[in-house]
Amino acid sequence: MWGSPVRGLGLNMVRPVRGLGMIEIRNVRKSFGDKVVLQDVSAKMEAGKTNLIIGTSGSGKTVLMKTMIGLLPVDSGEVLYEGKDITKMNDKELKEIRMQIGMLFQGGALFDSKTVENNVMFPLDMFTNMTYRQKVRRVDEVLARVNLVEANRKFPAEISGGMKKRVALARAIVQNPKYLFCDEPNSGLDPQTSLVIDKLVKEITTEYNITTIINTHDMNTVMESGDHIVYMYNGKKQWEGSNKDIIFSKDEKLNAFIFASEFLTKAKEMSMMEAKEQKG
Ligand SMILES: Nc1ncnc2c1ncn2[C@@H]1O[C@H](COP(=O)(O)OP(=O)(O)OP(=O)(O)O)[C@@H](O)[C@H]1O
Ligand SMILES: [Mg+2]
Repeated sequence: MWGSPVRGLGLNMVRPVRGLGMIEIRNVRKSFGDKVVLQDVSAKMEAGKTNLIIGTSGSGKTVLMKTMIGLLPVDSGEVLYEGKDITKMNDKELKEIRMQIGMLFQGGALFDSKTVENNVMFPLDMFTNMTYRQKVRRVDEVLARVNLVEANRKFPAEISGGMKKRVALARAIVQNPKYLFCDEPNSGLDPQTSLVIDKLVKEITTEYNITTIINTHDMNTVMESGDHIVYMYNGKKQWEGSNKDIIFSKDEKLNAFIFASEFLTKAKEMSMMEAKEQKG
Protein backbone atom coordinates (compact mmCIF):
# COMPACT_ATOMS: atom_id res chain seq x y z
CA MET A 1 0.00 0.00 0.00
CA TRP A 2 2.82 2.41 0.83
CA GLY A 3 5.04 3.81 -1.89
CA SER A 4 8.44 5.43 -2.07
CA PRO A 5 9.52 8.71 -0.47
CA VAL A 6 8.10 11.71 -2.27
CA ARG A 7 11.17 13.68 -3.20
CA GLY A 8 9.39 16.13 -5.46
CA LEU A 9 7.36 17.46 -2.55
CA GLY A 10 10.40 17.57 -0.29
CA LEU A 11 8.65 15.25 2.10
CA ASN A 12 10.77 12.97 4.13
CA MET A 13 7.98 10.48 4.50
CA VAL A 14 6.35 7.80 2.45
CA ARG A 15 3.29 8.60 0.48
CA PRO A 16 0.58 6.05 -0.28
CA VAL A 17 0.44 4.75 -3.82
CA ARG A 18 -2.76 6.25 -5.15
CA GLY A 19 -5.50 3.97 -6.36
CA LEU A 20 -8.78 5.23 -7.66
CA GLY A 21 -9.95 6.45 -4.27
CA MET A 22 -13.66 6.08 -4.86
CA ILE A 23 -16.02 5.59 -1.91
CA GLU A 24 -19.39 4.03 -2.51
CA ILE A 25 -22.11 3.60 0.06
CA ARG A 26 -24.87 1.08 -0.58
CA ASN A 27 -28.21 0.91 1.23
CA VAL A 28 -26.83 2.26 4.49
CA ARG A 29 -29.30 2.24 7.38
CA LYS A 30 -28.69 3.62 10.81
CA SER A 31 -31.02 4.06 13.79
CA PHE A 32 -30.60 5.23 17.35
CA GLY A 33 -33.22 3.33 19.33
CA ASP A 34 -36.55 3.91 17.54
CA LYS A 35 -35.21 6.88 15.62
CA VAL A 36 -34.28 6.04 12.05
CA VAL A 37 -31.52 8.49 11.03
CA LEU A 38 -30.29 7.02 7.74
CA GLN A 39 -32.74 5.21 5.46
CA ASP A 40 -31.26 3.11 2.68
CA VAL A 41 -28.72 5.70 1.60
CA SER A 42 -26.73 4.87 -1.53
CA ALA A 43 -24.27 7.31 -3.12
CA LYS A 44 -20.84 7.57 -4.70
CA MET A 45 -18.03 9.90 -3.63
CA GLU A 46 -15.86 10.62 -6.62
CA ALA A 47 -12.07 10.37 -6.49
CA GLY A 48 -10.06 13.58 -6.85
CA LYS A 49 -13.24 15.64 -6.49
CA THR A 50 -14.86 17.85 -3.88
CA ASN A 51 -17.95 15.85 -2.89
CA LEU A 52 -20.53 17.65 -0.77
CA ILE A 53 -23.18 16.30 1.54
CA ILE A 54 -25.81 18.98 2.01
CA GLY A 55 -29.12 19.20 3.84
CA THR A 56 -30.88 20.95 6.72
CA SER A 57 -29.76 20.59 10.30
CA GLY A 58 -30.64 17.11 11.55
CA SER A 59 -30.94 15.56 8.07
CA GLY A 60 -28.18 13.06 8.90
CA LYS A 61 -25.00 14.53 7.39
CA THR A 62 -22.73 14.03 10.38
CA VAL A 63 -24.09 10.55 11.08
CA LEU A 64 -23.55 9.62 7.42
CA MET A 65 -19.98 10.93 7.55
CA LYS A 66 -19.28 9.02 10.75
CA THR A 67 -20.57 5.77 9.26
CA MET A 68 -18.37 6.40 6.21
CA ILE A 69 -15.26 6.65 8.39
CA GLY A 70 -16.28 3.66 10.50
CA LEU A 71 -16.72 5.79 13.66
CA LEU A 72 -20.34 4.63 13.87
CA PRO A 73 -21.39 1.09 12.96
CA VAL A 74 -24.16 0.79 10.35
CA ASP A 75 -27.28 -1.31 11.04
CA SER A 76 -27.09 -2.65 7.49
CA GLY A 77 -25.58 -1.72 4.15
CA GLU A 78 -22.05 -1.35 2.78
CA VAL A 79 -19.37 1.33 2.78
CA LEU A 80 -16.94 0.49 0.02
CA TYR A 81 -13.46 2.01 -0.28
CA GLU A 82 -12.29 1.01 -3.74
CA GLY A 83 -14.65 -1.95 -3.52
CA LYS A 84 -13.64 -3.03 0.00
CA ASP A 85 -16.39 -2.91 2.61
CA ILE A 86 -15.16 -1.20 5.79
CA THR A 87 -18.21 -2.36 7.75
CA LYS A 88 -16.80 -5.89 7.53
CA MET A 89 -13.13 -5.06 8.14
CA ASN A 90 -11.15 -6.26 11.13
CA ASP A 91 -9.28 -3.77 13.35
CA LYS A 92 -6.03 -4.09 11.39
CA GLU A 93 -7.69 -3.41 8.01
CA LEU A 94 -9.71 -0.54 9.49
CA LYS A 95 -6.53 0.99 10.91
CA GLU A 96 -4.92 0.87 7.46
CA ILE A 97 -7.86 2.73 5.93
CA ARG A 98 -7.89 5.24 8.79
CA MET A 99 -4.20 5.98 8.11
CA GLN A 100 -5.31 7.25 4.72
CA ILE A 101 -8.06 9.47 6.10
CA GLY A 102 -7.75 13.11 7.16
CA MET A 103 -10.59 14.57 9.19
CA LEU A 104 -11.62 18.11 9.95
CA PHE A 105 -14.23 17.86 12.71
CA GLN A 106 -17.34 20.02 13.08
CA GLY A 107 -16.04 22.93 15.19
CA GLY A 108 -12.34 22.38 14.38
CA ALA A 109 -11.47 20.53 17.60
CA LEU A 110 -8.00 21.95 18.20
CA PHE A 111 -6.24 21.26 21.49
CA ASP A 112 -6.35 24.58 23.35
CA SER A 113 -3.30 23.75 25.46
CA LYS A 114 -1.10 22.93 22.45
CA THR A 115 0.57 25.40 20.11
CA VAL A 116 -0.39 25.53 16.43
CA GLU A 117 2.75 23.52 15.64
CA ASN A 118 1.97 20.84 18.22
CA ASN A 119 -1.64 20.61 17.11
CA VAL A 120 -0.58 19.93 13.53
CA MET A 121 2.18 17.59 14.65
CA PHE A 122 -0.18 15.48 16.78
CA PRO A 123 -1.08 12.86 14.11
CA LEU A 124 2.61 12.47 13.26
CA ASP A 125 3.42 11.91 16.96
CA MET A 126 0.62 9.35 17.19
CA PHE A 127 0.96 7.41 13.97
CA THR A 128 4.50 7.73 12.58
CA ASN A 129 8.09 7.03 13.56
CA MET A 130 9.36 10.26 12.03
CA THR A 131 12.17 12.09 13.83
CA TYR A 132 11.42 15.41 15.50
CA ARG A 133 13.25 17.30 12.72
CA GLN A 134 11.26 15.50 10.04
CA LYS A 135 8.04 16.28 11.83
CA VAL A 136 8.88 19.98 12.20
CA ARG A 137 9.68 20.13 8.49
CA ARG A 138 6.43 18.45 7.52
CA VAL A 139 4.43 20.73 9.85
CA ASP A 140 6.11 23.79 8.28
CA GLU A 141 5.24 22.50 4.80
CA VAL A 142 1.54 22.03 5.52
CA LEU A 143 1.28 25.30 7.44
CA ALA A 144 2.82 27.04 4.43
CA ARG A 145 0.32 25.23 2.18
CA VAL A 146 -2.58 26.70 4.14
CA ASN A 147 -0.88 30.11 4.10
CA LEU A 148 -0.10 30.15 7.80
CA VAL A 149 3.54 30.99 8.35
CA GLU A 150 4.92 32.36 11.59
CA ALA A 151 1.96 31.04 13.60
CA ASN A 152 3.79 27.94 14.90
CA ARG A 153 4.24 29.16 18.46
CA LYS A 154 0.78 30.64 18.89
CA PHE A 155 -2.02 29.01 20.86
CA PRO A 156 -5.54 28.54 19.39
CA ALA A 157 -6.92 31.28 21.69
CA GLU A 158 -4.50 33.76 20.07
CA ILE A 159 -5.62 33.28 16.46
CA SER A 160 -8.77 34.11 14.49
CA GLY A 161 -11.56 31.66 13.57
CA GLY A 162 -10.39 31.49 9.95
CA MET A 163 -6.83 30.76 11.07
CA LYS A 164 -8.09 28.01 13.39
CA LYS A 165 -9.85 26.35 10.46
CA ARG A 166 -6.63 26.52 8.48
CA VAL A 167 -4.71 24.92 11.36
CA ALA A 168 -7.37 22.18 11.51
CA LEU A 169 -7.04 21.72 7.74
CA ALA A 170 -3.23 21.56 7.99
CA ARG A 171 -3.60 18.88 10.68
CA ALA A 172 -6.08 16.95 8.51
CA ILE A 173 -3.63 16.84 5.56
CA VAL A 174 -0.37 16.42 7.50
CA GLN A 175 -0.27 12.68 6.80
CA ASN A 176 -0.93 13.22 3.13
CA PRO A 177 -4.34 11.54 3.19
CA LYS A 178 -6.03 9.93 0.26
CA TYR A 179 -9.46 10.75 1.71
CA LEU A 180 -10.32 14.04 3.37
CA PHE A 181 -13.51 14.45 5.43
CA CYS A 182 -14.58 17.93 6.54
CA ASP A 183 -17.66 18.40 8.73
CA GLU A 184 -18.93 21.98 8.35
CA PRO A 185 -15.51 23.55 7.67
CA ASN A 186 -17.06 27.02 7.39
CA SER A 187 -19.23 27.10 10.49
CA GLY A 188 -18.79 30.40 12.32
CA LEU A 189 -16.85 32.11 9.52
CA ASP A 190 -17.83 35.19 7.53
CA PRO A 191 -18.67 34.60 3.83
CA GLN A 192 -15.34 35.91 2.53
CA THR A 193 -13.20 33.85 4.89
CA SER A 194 -15.42 30.85 4.07
CA LEU A 195 -14.60 31.27 0.39
CA VAL A 196 -10.86 31.32 1.19
CA ILE A 197 -11.22 28.02 3.08
CA ASP A 198 -13.35 26.50 0.28
CA LYS A 199 -10.80 27.50 -2.34
CA LEU A 200 -7.98 26.06 -0.28
CA VAL A 201 -9.77 22.73 0.23
CA LYS A 202 -10.60 22.54 -3.47
CA GLU A 203 -7.03 23.35 -4.53
CA ILE A 204 -5.56 20.79 -2.14
CA THR A 205 -8.08 18.19 -3.34
CA THR A 206 -7.03 18.61 -6.97
CA GLU A 207 -3.34 19.11 -6.26
CA TYR A 208 -2.96 15.87 -4.29
CA ASN A 209 -5.78 13.97 -5.99
CA ILE A 210 -7.69 13.50 -2.76
CA THR A 211 -11.26 12.21 -2.47
CA THR A 212 -12.76 15.00 -0.40
CA ILE A 213 -16.14 14.84 1.34
CA ILE A 214 -17.56 18.00 2.91
CA ASN A 215 -20.68 18.37 5.03
CA THR A 216 -22.09 21.82 4.59
CA HIS A 217 -25.11 24.07 4.48
CA ASP A 218 -23.09 26.95 3.06
CA MET A 219 -24.63 27.90 -0.30
CA ASN A 220 -21.43 29.57 -1.49
CA THR A 221 -19.63 26.26 -0.99
CA VAL A 222 -22.35 24.45 -2.92
CA MET A 223 -22.09 26.77 -5.89
CA GLU A 224 -18.30 27.24 -5.89
CA SER A 225 -17.03 23.79 -4.88
CA GLY A 226 -19.80 21.29 -5.57
CA ASP A 227 -18.23 18.96 -8.14
CA HIS A 228 -20.53 16.28 -6.83
CA ILE A 229 -23.36 16.86 -4.37
CA VAL A 230 -25.50 14.51 -2.30
CA TYR A 231 -28.61 16.18 -0.88
CA MET A 232 -29.96 14.58 2.29
CA TYR A 233 -33.56 15.04 3.39
CA ASN A 234 -34.84 13.41 6.57
CA GLY A 235 -32.21 10.68 6.50
CA LYS A 236 -32.77 9.83 2.82
CA LYS A 237 -30.75 10.74 -0.23
CA GLN A 238 -33.15 13.06 -1.98
CA TRP A 239 -30.97 14.16 -4.90
CA GLU A 240 -27.46 13.69 -6.32
CA GLY A 241 -25.72 15.77 -8.99
CA SER A 242 -23.28 18.66 -9.61
CA ASN A 243 -23.51 22.39 -8.85
CA LYS A 244 -24.31 22.91 -12.54
CA ASP A 245 -27.21 20.44 -12.38
CA ILE A 246 -28.69 22.32 -9.42
CA ILE A 247 -29.66 25.31 -11.54
CA PHE A 248 -31.84 23.06 -13.71
CA SER A 249 -33.09 20.71 -11.03
CA LYS A 250 -36.84 20.29 -10.73
CA ASP A 251 -36.62 18.59 -7.35
CA GLU A 252 -38.92 20.70 -5.19
CA LYS A 253 -37.30 19.84 -1.87
CA LEU A 254 -33.81 20.61 -3.21
CA ASN A 255 -34.98 23.90 -4.70
CA ALA A 256 -36.70 24.91 -1.48
CA PHE A 257 -33.46 24.20 0.39
CA ILE A 258 -30.97 25.82 -2.01
CA PHE A 259 -33.01 28.72 -3.28
CA ALA A 260 -34.65 29.46 0.04
CA SER A 261 -34.93 33.22 -0.43
CA GLU A 262 -36.90 35.12 -3.06
CA PHE A 263 -33.63 36.67 -4.21
CA LEU A 264 -32.04 33.29 -4.91
CA THR A 265 -35.20 31.97 -6.61
CA LYS A 266 -34.97 34.91 -9.01
CA ALA A 267 -31.25 34.29 -9.53
CA LYS A 268 -32.03 30.67 -10.48
CA GLU A 269 -34.72 31.77 -12.95
CA MET A 270 -32.32 34.24 -14.54
CA SER A 271 -29.53 31.65 -14.82
CA MET A 272 -31.98 29.25 -16.51
CA MET A 273 -33.11 31.93 -18.95
CA GLU A 274 -29.51 32.86 -19.77
CA ALA A 275 -28.62 29.22 -20.38
CA LYS A 276 -31.65 28.79 -22.67
CA GLU A 277 -30.72 31.91 -24.66
CA GLN A 278 -27.14 30.66 -25.06
CA LYS A 279 -28.43 27.31 -26.33
CA GLY A 280 -31.01 28.83 -28.67
N1 LIG B 1 -25.56 9.48 19.07
C1 LIG B 1 -26.81 9.77 18.76
N2 LIG B 1 -27.85 9.28 19.45
C2 LIG B 1 -29.11 9.57 19.12
N3 LIG B 1 -29.47 10.35 18.09
C3 LIG B 1 -28.50 10.87 17.36
C4 LIG B 1 -27.11 10.62 17.64
N4 LIG B 1 -26.35 11.28 16.72
C5 LIG B 1 -27.23 11.91 15.91
N5 LIG B 1 -28.50 11.67 16.29
C6 LIG B 1 -29.71 12.18 15.61
O1 LIG B 1 -29.58 11.92 14.24
C7 LIG B 1 -30.14 12.98 13.47
C8 LIG B 1 -29.14 13.46 12.45
O2 LIG B 1 -28.07 14.10 13.13
P1 LIG B 1 -26.80 14.68 12.38
O3 LIG B 1 -25.88 15.15 13.45
O4 LIG B 1 -26.29 13.69 11.42
O5 LIG B 1 -27.44 15.91 11.59
P2 LIG B 1 -26.70 16.93 10.64
O6 LIG B 1 -27.38 16.85 9.32
O7 LIG B 1 -25.25 16.72 10.70
O8 LIG B 1 -27.11 18.33 11.34
P3 LIG B 1 -26.23 19.71 11.50
O9 LIG B 1 -26.36 20.41 10.19
O10 LIG B 1 -26.97 20.43 12.60
O11 LIG B 1 -24.84 19.36 11.87
C9 LIG B 1 -30.58 14.03 14.47
O12 LIG B 1 -31.97 13.95 14.66
C10 LIG B 1 -29.82 13.69 15.73
O13 LIG B 1 -30.55 14.07 16.86
MG1 LIG C 1 -23.63 17.88 11.43
